Amino acid sequence: MLEKDIKKVLVSHEEIVKRCEEMGKQITQDYQENPPLLVGLLRGSVPFLAELIQHIDLDAQYDFMDVTSYEGTESIGDIRILKDLDSSIQDRDILLVEDIVDTGKTLKTVCKTLLNKGAKSVKIATLLDKPSRRVNEMKADYIGFTVENEFVVGYGMDFNQRYRLLPYIGVLKDECYQVVE
Ligand code: IMP
Repeated sequence: MLEKDIKKVLVSHEEIVKRCEEMGKQITQDYQENPPLLVGLLRGSVPFLAELIQHIDLDAQYDFMDVTSYEGTESIGDIRILKDLDSSIQDRDILLVEDIVDTGKTLKTVCKTLLNKGAKSVKIATLLDKPSRRVNEMKADYIGFTVENEFVVGYGMDFNQRYRLLPYIGVLKDECYQVVE
């Protein structure tokens, strides 16, 4: 039923699963010595994290964080933590799992926060990268797909909290961006 609002499919479900397999293998190789704590940023990362972990063959763990930009500021990158991690991150290798890196502001602040709290290292795995929108030097270490400067939905990504359940990544029809209050 969400299908009718989609103008085009950018990345199919099959392509996502295949890419998660490749990324999972790479992560497995890279973290042989010290399995990471995977940290999913709520809520967009959930489907990606759920697929990715099935392809990571390590004695690793995962946890979640929820952050938001301070309202009312044309964000300088400050964030408010809505849900903090349950696990200790002292001296741990962290792999942040994100749905999409856009301006990079969220990740920059989260990385800094985790390192300040004693993480040994922080790397980033993102399903999508939109480098044309970046306002800082943030670079993900594992990238699923690079996309153009276009607003996307599906596979965890939303527009006004809708479309997260789509099993693929797509672009909405223009009329769907009109918000009915
Ligand atoms: P950043 O701090 O600008 O990199 O923001 C990243 C967050 O913005 C992502 O985790 C998404 O929640 C959201 N976001 C950025 N671009 C899109 C998009 O095209 N579709 C849906 N959400 C997006």
